[in-house]
Amino acid sequence: MNVGLIGLGRLSHNYYKGLTDNKNFNLVAVCDKDEEAVGRKIYKDVPFYNSFFDMVHNVHLDYALVATPEFTHYGIVKFLLENNINVIVEKPLEMEKQKREELLALAERNNLVLRVLYHYQYAEEVLQFDKLFDKKKINKIKVLINNAYSSDGLNLDPQFYSLHGCYIDAGINVLSMLEKWLPLEEVELVDRKFISAENVKEPIYAKLDLIVDKVPVEIEIDWRIHSNEKITHMVYEGKPLEINHTKQEIKYDGKVHNFDEMERLTRHYYNFFKLFDGKSNLNEVRKVYQVINKFDSNN
Ligand SMILES: NC(=O)c1ccc[n+]([C@@H]2O[C@H](COP(=O)([O-])OP(=O)(O)OC[C@H]3O[C@@H](n4cnc5c(N)ncnc54)[C@H](O)[C@@H]3O)[C@@H](O)[C@H]2O)c1
Repeated sequence: MNVGLIGLGRLSHNYYKGLTDNKNFNLVAVCDKDEEAVGRKIYKDVPFYNSFFDMVHNVHLDYALVATPEFTHYGIVKFLLENNINVIVEKPLEMEKQKREELLALAERNNLVLRVLYHYQYAEEVLQFDKLFDKKKINKIKVLINNAYSSDGLNLDPQFYSLHGCYIDAGINVLSMLEKWLPLEEVELVDRKFISAENVKEPIYAKLDLIVDKVPVEIEIDWRIHSNEKITHMVYEGKPLEINHTKQEIKYDGKVHNFDEMERLTRHYYNFFKLFDGKSNLNEVRKVYQVINKFDSNN
């Protein structure tokens, strides 16, 4: 399959190994509106376009991988789907419900793949949990996500403004991961707390206590502390189980299962491309947004 990558920003180097090690994908073109985009170096051997219109009109693409900021997704994805190109797009797809539904309907109507890339689902420790454990035996979940996105603990650092705050950015990751274990059919709010950044009206701290399909779930996201730790604590068959996403390991019953030497995000995308089944995930997208929107601090 011929693939074109649109958006060579901070994230883009993480795709390189997964895309180029995989015989199913043939990276034929890359694009960024900024000729000096940070990801350009690593893709220096691939033809570059500074406009996705030019790329689409000059190269035959089966798929486009869209890794531009969320506010550009609607226009770019719509153009691609209208030009008969299948789309893999970074999360979040599009925050406005009407536009999001329009894209989902367009993909269905044109019989094209629209796949939102929920990279947390492809973490090695998450895939291994699915293999080694039984999700029906989960009694309780607590997910802690920290990112050092606020240098002073009060304001959001400017390079992260486009992420829509910690709840949207990390909340979508967490819910897409939880969706592998719990169907997200019945979600009840027990309590929530948000702390906004002082410079932008978006949360840099969020904590939700939920009951998801009868399982108590706590999600705590903190961008104020200088740490990048990501851990899921579970009670599994009455005993503590820890999935350490930062270390890519699972601890249970006195045993440590350690899986990986590959850098965390590189591994997520490597697994995504390796396991890609050529299918849309429209229902999954709808479910994740339904929960994320229901408990947003604005509602
Ligand atoms: N950074 C991460 O760790 C991470 C992880 C998962 C998902 N994401 C998602 O991936 C996407 C990209 O993230 P990022 O951190 O690389 O962002 P970024 O802002 O660093 O890079 C985005 C790139 O897109 C380019 N761009 C913007 N508009 C364009 C257009 N119209 N045509 C061509 N290029 C255009 C920009 O010039 C920039 O180089 C976002 O949707 C984000 O939510 C990021």
